[in-house]
Amino acid sequence: AAVLNYTFVVQESSHTRLCTTKTMLTVNGSFPGPTIYANKGDLVIVDVINNATQNLTIHWHGVKMPRYPWSDGPEFVTQCPIRPGTRFSQRVVLSDEVGTLWWHAHSDWSRATVYGALIIYPDTNQTYPFPQPDADVPILLGDWWNSDIQEVMEEFLSTGGDPNISDAFLINGQPGDLYPCSKPDTFNMIVESGKTYLIRMINAVMNNVMFFRIANHTITVVGSDGAYTKQFISDYIAISPGQTIDFLLEANQPPSHYYMASHVYASAGNFDNTTTTGILQYAGNYTKPSSPPLPSLPDFNDTLASTNFTGKLRSLANNEYPIDVPLTVSTRLFFTLSINIQPCVNTNCSGPFGERFLASVNNVTMVLPRTDILQAYYMNISGVYENDFPDNPPFPFNYTQGFVPRDLWRPEDGTAVNILDYNDTVELVFQGTNTVAGVNHPMHLHGHSFYVVGSGFGNFNNVTDPPGYNLLDPPLMETIAVPVNGWTAIRFQANNPGVWFLHCHFERHVSWGMGMVFIVKNGNGPNATMLPPPSDMPQC
Ligand code: C2O
Ligand code: CU
Repeated sequence: AAVLNYTFVVQESSHTRLCTTKTMLTVNGSFPGPTIYANKGDLVIVDVINNATQNLTIHWHGVKMPRYPWSDGPEFVTQCPIRPGTRFSQRVVLSDEVGTLWWHAHSDWSRATVYGALIIYPDTNQTYPFPQPDADVPILLGDWWNSDIQEVMEEFLSTGGDPNISDAFLINGQPGDLYPCSKPDTFNMIVESGKTYLIRMINAVMNNVMFFRIANHTITVVGSDGAYTKQFISDYIAISPGQTIDFLLEANQPPSHYYMASHVYASAGNFDNTTTTGILQYAGNYTKPSSPPLPSLPDFNDTLASTNFTGKLRSLANNEYPIDVPLTVSTRLFFTLSINIQPCVNTNCSGPFGERFLASVNNVTMVLPRTDILQAYYMNISGVYENDFPDNPPFPFNYTQGFVPRDLWRPEDGTAVNILDYNDTVELVFQGTNTVAGVNHPMHLHGHSFYVVGSGFGNFNNVTDPPGYNLLDPPLMETIAVPVNGWTAIRFQANNPGVWFLHCHFERHVSWGMGMVFIVKNGNGPNATMLPPPSDMPQC
């Protein structure tokens, strides 16, 4: 394995979309940010230099960072912010990840403009478990706001309502030509007839699950979240924020121009119903169509199109790529995911009933501390967090139907961690609730991948649902969309000592407090303990 060096200069730079020019936070001045290329098992050292005027941290989404949470990045969970004028050299420790992951800012809403792809090729002596593609193309879905993202965030937190929706969705930083004043800002993917392309799709959108489709072409899914999957053919993609999907595209249609397009899947609420487009353009001489065919995307509210796609993901689970899903469980957890409200002090808020939105896991609204939890844990600093994050909700209720006890509209604030022993085999059931509203939640775990062993609509039933679990070829993921008013069961082995954030990857939900933290204790022996911190760890 190699050691690779990158330099990320965080700086303000000027960008124009939809005829609006604004100054925004970027890495090395580019939007999306630079792509990191590595091979499986490499060590990537990224020197992050903060030349901006605001605090920031960077997270390597989907990288497990074995025994080394120090570089993981979530602000006030594993580190204090990198202050303006300072630098932090982050060690991105790759282990078994292969395929597509990404990196993004992990403080306030900065990830709207600070993100990029992390592409991990197989070991130098290995090939893909699918036909070798002729080329690789990252496709990152994102958002564009004409206004400053910090203002969008501050406004939404102060009004207590839903955030302003973005002004456009983006494909590789470009809105595409269906938006006003955006004709030149279109991503063009040029392909040669007969060739096969490996598309590495990342959903970096802030608040939406997205559908994506290319006109007149089917695709073959081969991976997700930095792991291979069994191949399946589809004509569209459904992808959660945080998630990645790798798929093969064959340029096998008559040479022409074809639209690729993406819009949201939303189970409820106020959302942007616009469509971002790009062009799949065959090389060669032919008459360009004046209006290329547009793909027809699943409807905005097509929950089944979203869950059916996700439900097709399966591990390879063969001799060469075996799975290691825990077959016995030592720790059972049941986490309710709720949207809540609470009265506004002094003013009328713009959430339901004039109150403000909050969110919670097991009725605890996560409040970030002032000193990061990892440092507090490692240095035994008391008063930063409590060890009492509950294994279960405070009391059972009908999670998805009818009247919900009013108590559950008012969660408790907390900075609470749930402690796992080294090598605990964990089964965690996420239960979506219909408190103030039922909505889907893309849940993301740091430090571990997990097997998604089951999922369904309605209330989880601990007698009738577990016999239906897939323990043969469940997909290995690090972000999974829990269906609206439904549940998802995951299993993982807590084999990575450290402090690990678990949260909804909808930015508005995590800002409202939909998160919690696991501490995985050290085990016995030198390979089962956390490594010490680097000397340049940012200080609070
Ligand atoms: Cu992609 Cu905690 O984040
Ligand atoms: Cu959520």
